[in-house]
Amino acid sequence: MKGILLAGGKGTRLYPITTSISKQILPVFNKPMIYYPMSVLMLAGIRDILIISSPEHIGLYRDLFGDGTMLGLRLNYAVQPEPKGVAQALTIGADFIGSDPSALIFGDNFLYGHGLSELIVRAGKLTDGALVFAYRVLDARPYGVVEFDKDMNALSIEEKPQKPKSNYAVTGLYFYDKHVVEIARALKPSARGEYEITHVNAEYLARKKLKVEILGRGFSWLDMGTHESLLEASNFVQTIEHRQGLMVACLEEIAFNQGWITRDQLLKSASISRDNEYCRYLSDLAA
Ligand code: G1P
Repeated sequence: MKGILLAGGKGTRLYPITTSISKQILPVFNKPMIYYPMSVLMLAGIRDILIISSPEHIGLYRDLFGDGTMLGLRLNYAVQPEPKGVAQALTIGADFIGSDPSALIFGDNFLYGHGLSELIVRAGKLTDGALVFAYRVLDARPYGVVEFDKDMNALSIEEKPQKPKSNYAVTGLYFYDKHVVEIARALKPSARGEYEITHVNAEYLARKKLKVEILGRGFSWLDMGTHESLLEASNFVQTIEHRQGLMVACLEEIAFNQGWITRDQLLKSASISRDNEYCRYLSDLAA
């Protein structure tokens, strides 16, 4: 399974913070935002990851992660010349995906909860159809919205409807079989001029190949793209980490637990600073 992490967009909802910086590099408590979705791909067991960003910002991610060796990953980078919709990531990533299944995650989505790892490990084994996750929200209008029958089979999926048919928003994490590139290539731009990921999912639904899993009330799904939600995510991470003494989305920890990096590599990352909590956490882990 290949992973695509989308770190593009103009981040206009975060203006003026994003005037001169990429949204997904902004701090969410003690890590760059992109660490959180990256941790989700890594927990799913995905090591081949393509990061897509705008031409002016792609260098930031290259500087942050390099070729991924320090995280036991094989990272690739590509640019989205203009923000023409998230489904475009799939055609930009066509060569990278090849004929493998793929997972797509948005760089501003925060997912957390007990049992998430098991859920996404299972999802990472998908070879047929598509799998999306639905999450109950108070106001579903800003999202892709999925409607169910009484057996929880998806009936319809709509992008940003004025009158949502349910309270279930589709999160920014998608698992697809090898047909996704062909489906994405056939898309037409929507009324807002974007290649919509919801149209990809609607095509899978039409083919009776869309599976929807509910992330129940024990999960947290935050979109970190507004001033409020950015702060909420930071506070959330700070609260949990402070209470438990365990980090959320510590990428070296995940890589180490997956057996992708050695203890020496972990110690090398830990040695970057002596008076930094993140590095101390890594050195405790190595010990
Ligand atoms: C995108 C998708 C939408 C999905 C959301 C999740 O919206 O189009 O279907 O629910 O991500 O974050 P956008 O962020 O482009 O408004």
